[in-house]
Amino acid sequence: MQSPPDRSRGQLLEALAAGPVGLAALADRTGLSRAAVRDGLDALERAGFEFRETETGYAVDSVPAYGAGAIEYGLSAPVAVAYHDRLPSTNARARELATRGVSDIAVVAAEQTGGRGRRDRTWASPRGGVWLSILLRPAGSAAHAPVYTLAGAVAVADAIPDEVAARIKWPNDILVGKRKLAGVLTETATTGGELDWVIVGIGVNANVDPTDLPGEDPTSLRAELGLVDRRQLAQRIIERTHELAGAPEDILPAWRRLADTLGRRVRVETDSETIVGEAVDVTFPGALVVETPASRRTVAAGECEPLRPADPR
Ligand code: BTN
Repeated sequence: MQSPPDRSRGQLLEALAAGPVGLAALADRTGLSRAAVRDGLDALERAGFEFRETETGYAVDSVPAYGAGAIEYGLSAPVAVAYHDRLPSTNARARELATRGVSDIAVVAAEQTGGRGRRDRTWASPRGGVWLSILLRPAGSAAHAPVYTLAGAVAVADAIPDEVAARIKWPNDILVGKRKLAGVLTETATTGGELDWVIVGIGVNANVDPTDLPGEDPTSLRAELGLVDRRQLAQRIIERTHELAGAPEDILPAWRRLADTLGRRVRVETDSETIVGEAVDVTFPGALVVETPASRRTVAAGECEPLRPADPR
C-alpha cells in the first residue's frame, strides 16, 4: 500500500504561496533542512511548477493544471492531497487511509476504474472529471452521519460557477435542470456511538462529454459552460466541505438555499413504502419532511423523484 503524502510538500507550498521567499526562510518555515527544501523544490518542478529566482527569493511563475501540488497550492483548508493518475475508487483508497489513522486528506484521481455510486451502482469516471474523496474526523454522534452527505452536496453546488445554476435533489444529487451533474457518496465509521471518520466522496462531471456517460440524461460542466479549471473546482469543494464539517449547524440552512426538492410534489421510494406528497423541509441530520394528504412524514432515506403537480402515484 502506498504511503499518504508527506506534509512537507504542503508546508513548502504554503510558504511559496505567500510570495517570493528565500531558501533560509523556506527552511525556517517548514522545519526542513536547506537540502530537503532544494529536493522539495526539485520535486515540485518535476510535477510542473515553474519558479523564478528574484532578489527576495523564489517566486512561483506557473502552477500545473491539476495534481497534488497544484490543488494544495493556495488551498485555504488544512487538508493534504493524495493524487493518483488512476485508481479503482478514491473512496476505497480513502477508506484504506482511514483504517491507518490518517485524517484531513483528499484523495483525488484523474480516472477511476471502479467508481462507486449510491445504492451499489457504478459511477463512470473517465478522465476530465473531478473525482475525489475527503477524509475527515469531525467530532459528533454517529447519528449525525447523514448530514455530511448534505454537506458534500452543498460544497459541490457552491463550488460550481453561478452561471450553471446547480441545485440539489434530496439528499445529494447535483442537478442542472433535470440532468445530473454530480453525486456524493458518503461513508462513515463509528466507535461507541461516536463518529470515528467520514469520507465524503464527490464526483463531478467536469470536462467530460455527457454522451460518454451512462445513466439517465447526465450533463457535464463542459456541456453547460465549456471547459472549466478543475484545480480551482477541487480546491473550492475541499475548502467548503472542510468548513461545513467544522460547523454542522450551517449545513441545513445552506442546503435549503440550494435545494431543488423543497416546495415540489415528490415521490419517495423507501425500502418499505412509497410516499407521495409535497417536500416541505429537511430536518437534522438530513431527513426529508413530506406533507402527504394524510400526515406529515419524516423520511430518513430513499430515492426521491419530483412529480408534476398533476402526476398520479
Ligand atoms: C451517486 O451515486 O450519485 C454518488 C456518486 C459518487 C461518485 C464519487 S467519484 C469519487 C468517489 N469515489 C467513488 O468511487 N465514488 C465517489
